[in-house]
Amino acid sequence: MKILGICGSPREESNTRFYLRQTLSEFETQGAQTEIILLRDLNIRGCKGCYGCVKAKKCVIEDDFGIVFEKMMEADGILFGSPVYHSSITSELKAVLDRAGFSGRWYSNEMKGKEDSYEWKGTVFSGKVVAPVTVARRAGQNFAFAQILLWATCNDCIVAGSTYWNVGVAGKGGTVNADEDEEGIGIMKHLASNMTHIIRCLKRETEV
Ligand SMILES: Cc1cc2nc3c(=O)[nH]c(=O)nc-3n(C[C@H](O)[C@H](O)[C@H](O)COP(=O)(O)O)c2cc1C
Repeated sequence: MKILGICGSPREESNTRFYLRQTLSEFETQGAQTEIILLRDLNIRGCKGCYGCVKAKKCVIEDDFGIVFEKMMEADGILFGSPVYHSSITSELKAVLDRAGFSGRWYSNEMKGKEDSYEWKGTVFSGKVVAPVTVARRAGQNFAFAQILLWATCNDCIVAGSTYWNVGVAGKGGTVNADEDEEGIGIMKHLASNMTHIIRCLKRETEV
């Protein structure tokens, strides 16, 4: 079982990374192979709407996006983590979601004429188990959370939940430091159990 965490924080001492690590470490105890990508280390610009991926079947912008996309394709489960910036996910994560969602669709489908709806063959994300993790100092987690959910439910993913929304309340001047957010840490760990359960069931289903 391969689990990928994508951290959309531009900060080195990232709270989002902390919460993602809580979930990933729980996955590791369940025998999963995990990896975390810090988008702050990569150079990924936003989608430029060129529709080049419709023909090329991959994003045609030449930057570090391909590194993330390959790892997303290999993963059974993906955690999308983002700090809340003005009630939204960060531009780093938005760039990845826009480009992955669009090029992932044209990887396996053909665009037809305006009248024709295309024959659905799935996306590269079909059946992947996905969850958002959003972190704010005070407010806006659910808006950013919803952005990730809307991406996942438009890209044929299966969404896992936990005992509460997978959100952290932390940050400079925030309610608590992330490592003191016991409830949040519990939520992140339970998320890993739920995702593991779903992925194992799905894998068993394909073996039958
Ligand atoms: C540009 C910017 C916008 C922010 N907007 C919000 C916000 O809307 N709500 C909030 O509670 N915190 C907001 N914050 C605080 C961060 O969400 C918070 O510090 C978070 O823990 C940062 O996560 P990170 O350490 O993973 O980068 C903002 C911070 C920055 C730099």
